[in-house]
Amino acid sequence: MVFCAFSCHFVATPSSLLITHKTGFQGALLDWFRAHQRPLPWRDEPSLYKTVVSEFMLQQTQVKTVLPYFSRWLAAFPDFCTLAAASEERVLKHWEGLGYYSRARNLHKLAKVVVAMPTPPQTPASWQELPGIGPYTAAAITSISFNVPTAVVDGNVVRVLTRLTANATSFRDSASAVKTLGPLANAVLNPDFPGDHNQAMMELGAMVCLRQNPLCTVCPVLSFCAASKRGEPEAFPCLAPKQIEQRAVARVWCLRAGKLLLHRAAAGARRLANLHELPTAAHLGLTAAVIAKTPLIAIKKRGITRYAITESIHVVSPPRGRLMQGLVWVSAFELEAITLSGPHRRWVTELIKKHPAP
Ligand code: ADE
Repeated sequence: MVFCAFSCHFVATPSSLLITHKTGFQGALLDWFRAHQRPLPWRDEPSLYKTVVSEFMLQQTQVKTVLPYFSRWLAAFPDFCTLAAASEERVLKHWEGLGYYSRARNLHKLAKVVVAMPTPPQTPASWQELPGIGPYTAAAITSISFNVPTAVVDGNVVRVLTRLTANATSFRDSASAVKTLGPLANAVLNPDFPGDHNQAMMELGAMVCLRQNPLCTVCPVLSFCAASKRGEPEAFPCLAPKQIEQRAVARVWCLRAGKLLLHRAAAGARRLANLHELPTAAHLGLTAAVIAKTPLIAIKKRGITRYAITESIHVVSPPRGRLMQGLVWVSAFELEAITLSGPHRRWVTELIKKHPAP
């Protein structure tokens, strides 16, 4: 904290200092971005469609994971019209493995809405009325595509801003940090190049201002950074640790006459609508006591949002009588064509080699 030499009426906080020096900050950030940004496919010859697709894919997903999906997607659905006209099945197939499938469904719905409009909307508020668009995505799309001066704020931007200003507020979660830092993000936004400024903030957070071991020696805005002056950039942001909940799920590996038993979630299901997964024991009406006596062939661990999930996969005999709701027999041939959620595609590929159909 810096006190005014002559009176105590004004206390210059690191935030107000950043705002006072904002043109220097903006210039240093923009020069660095223009010289060092990664050559990403949605950045060369940008278009509204590429920006929208990339922003949907990048929600909760890293750039390196998105890259192969983005190019396959653009080859299959080169514009809003092609996407709007595609079947949901084909859209989901191209999203297979990327996770959070409601994004694919929303992007598909959005394409249908956009092609029915005389021109695409241009303001963040009107974009937020479209399926799958929250404040971050609306700000990213409108700043990058229409030069609207509105700042993006996500976890990366929170990290950059709390370090620049050594903001020691203890945030209960990242949503409250995002909300708190919105005004500062907008106050330091470069009004002449909002799209590049926003992408520069994202790039700085992703490539330099890392959660652990930030690369301060090559940081273009080091001279503006209060946290590094204190020698403790990693101390910011102060976020309450995530409450992780443990979950156990028993799943079944069930083969009959060369076909694998899968569960297809109903069209109206919230998370996995129309996607196939290995059935849970509950899908077959098997109790924990029954499943515990069956041969265990794999244990898989994964994290989804705040859940740490342990999934055990057991061999069970084919159920007798009519199959329960959602269960389907799938041949090896059909397996290629249907959409499985990402981990299930990997598990099935692995297990089918070790436990082939009788
Ligand atoms: N994350 C979200 N949007 C992004 C973008 N346009 N470039 C890089 N990373 C991002």
